[in-house]
Amino acid sequence: MIHAFDVALFLHILSVAVWVGGMVFAHFCLRPAVAELTPQSRLPLMESALGKFFMWVSVAVIVILLSGGFMMAKVGNMQAPWPVLAMAATGIVMMMLFGHLRFAMFPRVQRAVQAQRWPDGAAAIASIRRIVMINLVLGIVTIAFGVLGRV
Ligand code: HEM
Repeated sequence: MIHAFDVALFLHILSVAVWVGGMVFAHFCLRPAVAELTPQSRLPLMESALGKFFMWVSVAVIVILLSGGFMMAKVGNMQAPWPVLAMAATGIVMMMLFGHLRFAMFPRVQRAVQAQRWPDGAAAIASIRRIVMINLVLGIVTIAFGVLGRV
């Protein structure tokens, strides 16, 4: 029999796969593939690809929060095993970094591309890349906490 907890865990892990898998693709596949292009072609392409990816991440973040919050209540909230609490803590840090990336840094890329200010756009993309790298490492650590926290 399938329980609500199993459905929540399925949605939770699916969303984690979209988010963390997308960061692996962006960092290790897309970025090196476009590195040889001129800024005039590379930056509009990156702006479009990142804009679409961030929309998927926004949905993933909402699902992770809802499913995580639901499961958290079932495993005792603050009485949950420490790795689950650590997952929630690093997960929330990841979400805050994503919020900064999406709402503070990405608009700089959009404005630079619109105004064809390529050096500004390249600088903004470079800062986004650093945050994505941090979030990717945090994502892997968070998955490890999630697996350790199984009850
Ligand atoms: C607000 C943030 C989050 C909360 C409250 C939360 C909460 C939970 C809870 C309660 C479970 C079930 C643990 C159990 O079965 O006893 C779980 C499972 C899991 N979570 Fe999270 N989580 C959050 C964010 C994340 C993030 C950001 C990731 C990865 C990047 C993640 C990865 C996982 C994984 C891989 C599992 C499955 C563990 C397993 O069954 O092997 N979680 N989460």
